[in-house]
Amino acid sequence: MPAFNFRHIKDLYPIFWSKSRELVETLQTELDKKAPDNVVEIGDWASRATLDIIGVAGLGQDFAALRSPNTELNTTYRKVFAPSKAQQMLGLLSIFIHPIIVRNLPIKRNDDMFEAQRVIRTISRDLIRQKKAALEKNEKRDIDIISVALESGGFSEENLVDQMMTFIAAGHETTSSTLTWAVYELCKKPEVQKRLRTEIHAKIQSLNESVDAAKLDDLPYLHAVCNETLRHNAPVPLTMRDTANDCNIADTYVPKGTKIILCPSAVNFSKDLWGPDASEFNPDRWMGPGRANTGGAESNYAMLTFLHGPRSCIGQSFAKGEFECLLAALVGKFEFEMRDPNEKIDILGGITARPRNGMHIKLKVVEGW
Ligand code: HEM
Repeated sequence: MPAFNFRHIKDLYPIFWSKSRELVETLQTELDKKAPDNVVEIGDWASRATLDIIGVAGLGQDFAALRSPNTELNTTYRKVFAPSKAQQMLGLLSIFIHPIIVRNLPIKRNDDMFEAQRVIRTISRDLIRQKKAALEKNEKRDIDIISVALESGGFSEENLVDQMMTFIAAGHETTSSTLTWAVYELCKKPEVQKRLRTEIHAKIQSLNESVDAAKLDDLPYLHAVCNETLRHNAPVPLTMRDTANDCNIADTYVPKGTKIILCPSAVNFSKDLWGPDASEFNPDRWMGPGRANTGGAESNYAMLTFLHGPRSCIGQSFAKGEFECLLAALVGKFEFEMRDPNEKIDILGGITARPRNGMHIKLKVVEGW
């Protein structure tokens, strides 16, 4: 918990920004090769950028997915997280059959998962041993999340490996799909894209400038666009809970052991909670006095993107920080539009909701920033 506290997360902003710069610079090199069509699948780039960020800021290890997408760890991770029909079917089966049985079915997808886990656990364990050795020698203290957890002395080696697996899994595709949907919304609303770019250029003179939490705090429209993307395109569209006791929910008796579906993408669209334009992408709802943190909704619970309570997303501040940095760098450096403005984007559900066939975007460099 202390490692995820904003007091610590704010120190990670320079890492978020330097990886955001790397994303933009690598994309620019890619465009030089690709001229004249300048179309990229932004979901893949977002995924590589967030894997790198969780690597450096979460674990103190640069996976270099932006520069070298084909290393063992990168390909393994991308294989596990590529949305697949098989994974969807297994997810569905787990509702009816005990997940342990489903996970042990002798099918290729399960074999791939076991192998991927083995590779990632081995890499994570090696990393923890290196960090432990450095700590014992009293070498320089690292600020990444695992180092802070390691220093606390409260975790065994295997427990830390588990924590690392969770951070990478929970903190990688979630933010990358958020960034992908933000780009989509900004393509659909060029006036929002332009207004955001004007604010970014007014407050950050160039991509090479250093950016920290205080500087980003001075960009209200960036906050508004990011919050509205998180509301409108909740990357975890639903999750489940089992009731621990007999209880009443909204005056309905619910017995112990009932499966409850929590559905951020339904609650976040409620007209009762957000008003008649609930289904519109409208960053302005987060602008104006008292609205920056509420979006004009009366209750904190109107937004379920990160859930609430003791098992809500521990990485919320981390996610918001990296998302803001990535979006500011992208919008500052590129103008973008959909490759095909009439394309109907089909959503493939998995743990996160992502475009089935990727998000193909045409980029144009903004000179002089
Ligand atoms: C926009 C990005 C993100 C969204 C929308 C998101 C959303 C969520 C949600 C809905 C849950 C609860 C899942 C459940 O219990 O069913 C969750 C849990 C979690 N998230 Fe995030 N997350 C994001 C980014 C991150 C990041 C960047 C990290 C780590 C650096 C992270 C770490 C975690 C962890 C460790 C849990 C499990 C917490 C627990 O069970 O106590 N998340 N997240």
